[in-house]
Amino acid sequence: MALESKMTNQPGRTEAGENIVTVFGGTGFLGRRIVTSLLDRAVDVRAVSRHPHKHKFDNVSGKRPSQQIEADILDSSSIAAAVAGSRAVVNAVSLYVERGKQTFERVHVEAAADLAATSRDAGVEMFVQISGIGSDPMSRSNYIRARGRGEEVVKAAFPGAVIVRPSVMVGPDDTFITTIARLVHILPIYPLFGEGGTRLQPVYVEDVAEAVSRLASGQYSTDASIFECAGPRIYSYRELVQEIATQLNARIRLVPVPFAVWRILATAAEFLPVVSLTRNQVDLMLRDNVAANDLPGLEELGIQSRGIEELVDMIGHAA
Ligand SMILES: NC(=O)c1ccc[n+]([C@@H]2O[C@H](COP(=O)([O-])OP(=O)(O)OC[C@H]3O[C@@H](n4cnc5c(N)ncnc54)[C@H](OP(=O)(O)O)[C@@H]3O)[C@@H](O)[C@H]2O)c1
Repeated sequence: MALESKMTNQPGRTEAGENIVTVFGGTGFLGRRIVTSLLDRAVDVRAVSRHPHKHKFDNVSGKRPSQQIEADILDSSSIAAAVAGSRAVVNAVSLYVERGKQTFERVHVEAAADLAATSRDAGVEMFVQISGIGSDPMSRSNYIRARGRGEEVVKAAFPGAVIVRPSVMVGPDDTFITTIARLVHILPIYPLFGEGGTRLQPVYVEDVAEAVSRLASGQYSTDASIFECAGPRIYSYRELVQEIATQLNARIRLVPVPFAVWRILATAAEFLPVVSLTRNQVDLMLRDNVAANDLPGLEELGIQSRGIEELVDMIGHAA
């Protein structure tokens, strides 16, 4: 798909002359990399989260957001203050496990719509919603349906909003590749999701952050409204585990485990203080999670996606 991808010297500015990009979820796995990538482009960044100082940005290299603000996406008054004066807003807030009032519908649909509408009313020029490949408003899974509906309500509240759908993101501090790499070292048998046939296209978190930063900084202009960001190679889950084991010289026997069993395990795991398996992960593993051929992605934004080999090597040496 041909896209207009043009570089301009200066990112766009609001009428007031401000050029702040506000990143909701700016301390998270993806969000903090978006912040760093924007800072690399000399963009003023406001990182927003409920615990803004939980992540310590690197002050030595000057890679620290201009502002670190406390706000809860569920609290309309706090989001109004957080987006004020922004030229662009990115929503990189996550919710993987429902707890009390924090439901998928509340965070990924209602609050996303609220943030988009508040941004529109504040004169924000660009809104980027982080969603996920496979999002589907008709899905039977509460999580996947909320992600799909979230996209719809954001587009309705903020015409021209851009949706970025990453596939499973990997990086040195991820919970995906690092978990597989650790388990293949310690387990003689490795339990697969079902037969392990689900196809995945893991993507480097930095590559997704770079894509979001290119869009939000105003340095690229595009008419596309959805980007699916995925890595260079498609693996079945079985192939992925086998490949990691081979690269780490681990001998492992792969054993299929029915999805129904995973669901029971995930339901129990969600009661633990530190959740390492969630029902939404199991739901996502039921369907292939690869980028659509007819939607733009990293390549159209001028980003060459990196494979996972270097990362696996690095984790292997650290283990
Ligand atoms: N990780 C993946 O592999 C993956 C794959 C596809 C799509 N995605 C999507 O990418 C986005 C970012 O995911 P992530 O893995 O980077 O998430 P994450 O590491 O869990 O970070 C979430 C961020 O949101 C903030 N946050 C959570 N609840 C909030 C609230 N109520 N109000 C304000 N801030 C809040 C968190 O900080 P506080 O807790 O301090 O508020 C944190 O900064 C999500 O939409 C996720 O679904 C992730």
